[in-house]
Amino acid sequence: MSDINLVAPSLLSCDFAHLAEEIKAVEDAGADWLHVDIMDGHFVDNLTIGPPVVASIKKASKIPLDVHLMIENPEKYIAEFVKVGSDRVTIHVESTKDVRGALKKIRELGAKPGITLRPKTSLDEVQEFFSLVDLVLIMTVNPGFGGQSFMPEQMEKVRHVKAWSQKNNSKLFIEVDGGVNSKTVGVCREAGANVFVAGNAIFKSGNYQQAIKSLK
Ligand code: DX5
Ligand code: ZN
Repeated sequence: MSDINLVAPSLLSCDFAHLAEEIKAVEDAGADWLHVDIMDGHFVDNLTIGPPVVASIKKASKIPLDVHLMIENPEKYIAEFVKVGSDRVTIHVESTKDVRGALKKIRELGAKPGITLRPKTSLDEVQEFFSLVDLVLIMTVNPGFGGQSFMPEQMEKVRHVKAWSQKNNSKLFIEVDGGVNSKTVGVCREAGANVFVAGNAIFKSGNYQQAIKSLK
């Protein structure tokens, strides 16, 4: 089993009126990365935040920003998201005609590229990009909203990515996102995931330290 074991709280579920305090609280509670969900109302049915807020998050944080772009034509905004402090930028394979170009751009600008699949996306659509990324994100809910139920059938994809990484890149981050909590984290880890995004399981828990500990 991988010795990487990281927890990335998804700020989507935090109290945005107290963003800096929320960030500090999860950092103090043991968070490894901050997961930042960017939605444009086109690629997914929800709107969240843009580069100015990411810049504020960067100022308030000490740990890496794991930025998950759920936007169409991400290449248009990559430079700006990197400029405001995104350490990792992950794009959806369906969001651009030039996935390869977008991933290359992320790396050239100095951030770590990631690729992600929605529950309906097949492995055949993403496999060719694995060698270009540092992280593969397997969505375990349909992207757009926090607080949805975990989809265990996605574990087959996690197992496949894990097998690929054992052969080709043992440092690959295999991240799961959506409905991850103390009950569902175990099957994710068994399947080979090593980065666990959690929104509601942390921010609605009442005890961030306990919640993060139970995910580890
Ligand atoms: C959903 C987002 C997730 C979301 C996870 O589209 O990508 O990061 O915030 O929230 P929970 O953990 O509550 O399912
Ligand atoms: Zn996310």
